[in-house]
Amino acid sequence: MKIIVTGGAGFIGGNFVHYMINKYPDYKIICLDKLTYAGNLETLEPVMDNKGFRFVKGDIADRDFVYKLFEDEKPDMVVNFAAESHVDRSITDPGIFLQTNVIGTGVLLDACRIYGIKRYHQVSTDEVYGDLPLDRPDLFFTETTPLHTSSPYSASKASADLLVLAYHRTFKLPVTISRCSNNYGPYHFPEKLIPLMIANCLNDKPLPVYGKGENVRDWLYVEDHCRAIDMIIHDGREGEVYNIGGHNERTNLQVVETIIDALGKSRDLIQYVTDRPGHDMRYAIDPTKIHDELGWEPTTRFDDGIKKTIDWYLNNKPWWEKIISGEYQNYYEKMYAGR
Ligand code: NAD
Ligand code: DAU
Repeated sequence: MKIIVTGGAGFIGGNFVHYMINKYPDYKIICLDKLTYAGNLETLEPVMDNKGFRFVKGDIADRDFVYKLFEDEKPDMVVNFAAESHVDRSITDPGIFLQTNVIGTGVLLDACRIYGIKRYHQVSTDEVYGDLPLDRPDLFFTETTPLHTSSPYSASKASADLLVLAYHRTFKLPVTISRCSNNYGPYHFPEKLIPLMIANCLNDKPLPVYGKGENVRDWLYVEDHCRAIDMIIHDGREGEVYNIGGHNERTNLQVVETIIDALGKSRDLIQYVTDRPGHDMRYAIDPTKIHDELGWEPTTRFDDGIKKTIDWYLNNKPWWEKIISGEYQNYYEKMYAGR
C-alpha cells in the first residue's frame, strides 16, 4: 500500500505519519508538504531515514507538480491534511485559505481522477457545522447537521468538503471525509490554545484568554484521531462522512486553569483580551456513527491526555523554543543544503 499524506510536517499529519509507519511497516508513506510556517521537518526527523518513507516538498495547489508526483508514485490512497488551519490567521488573511484549502483540494481530487485512486480521504473539521449555544448541552453535531460556517477558515473547509462529495457523485471517486473536534498532543504548533498556554506558562508570560473564556471545545487526543482515520481509510464506506470526537468538552478557562495548576503557576497570569470576531461558542461531536460502523472510540481521557501533552512540551523544549524564536524557518535550508 502506497499512501500520499499531505500536510505531514504539521501537527496532526505528523502524528499520523508516525502512527502509520509504526503500525504498517510494509506501507510506503509519501509526505507532501509545502513547509509553510506551520510545517516543521523536525517533527518528521524520527522517521526521515525509514526506508518506507519519502518526504517531498511541494504545494498541493501546484497542479503540474502534483500530477508529476502522482505519475511517479502511483499512490493507492491520499490522505489530505494539508491546510491553512488557524482561525485567527483566516480573519486577517483569508486569501491563502481559499488557495490551499479549496483550490489545493480541487487539484488533489483532479489528480486522483486522472491517475486513479483506491481512496481519497479528506481531513475536515467540526467547524463546518458552525457552533452550538452554551445553554443547550443536549445538542451535538451529527453528520447530517447542516453546514453553517463562521470564519473564512471554516468556510474554506466546508467548500472543500462539498467539492469532495461532488467528485464522488459526479466522477464516482472513492472518497471519505472525517470531521474531527479540537485535537491536542505532541507537535502542536504553539499558536493554538493548548500549546500556547503551556509555552507562555513555562516562560511566565501572560495567558491571553479571548472574551470571558466561556467558549467550549471538545478536545480529542491526537492519537485517537489518527486511529479513527486509519479505520476510515481501510474500512469506511465510500462517499461517507464520519464525525470524530470523544465527549471531552471543556471551557477555554477550564483548559487554561488546568495547565496553570499542572505547572504550579499562578492564575494571575490569565489576561482577558478582546474576543475573536465571529467566535464560535461551543463545538460538540456525536461520534455514534463511527462507533457503530467501525468500532472506534477514544482511548485517552482529557485529564490523562493533557498531562501527557504537558510532559511532552516539558521534555521537548528545543522543538517549540525554536519555533517561537523563528529559528526553525532556516531548518529546511540547512537540512537540505547540498544534498
Ligand atoms: P497544521 O497547521 O499544524 O499543519 C498543516 C500542514 O499543512 C503544515 O505542515 C503545512 O506546511 C502544510 N501545508 C499548508 N499549506 C500547504 C500547501 N498548499 N501544500 C502542501 N502543504 C501545505 O494543521 P493541523 O492542526 O495539523 O491540521 C491538519 C488538518 O486537520 C487540517 O486540514 C485541519 O483543517 C484539520 N483539523 C484540525 C484540527 C485541529 O484541532 N488542529 C481538528 C480537526 C481538523
Ligand atoms: O474544532 C476543530 C478546529 O480546532 C480545527 O479545525 C482548527 O484547525 C483548529 O485550529 C481548532 O480551532 P479553534 O479555533 O477551536 O482552536 P484555537 O486553538 O485557535 O482556539 C481554541 C479556543 O481557545 C477558541 O475558543 C479560541 C480560544 N483562544 C485561542 C487562542 C489561540 C484563546 O482564548 N486564546 C488564544 O490565545
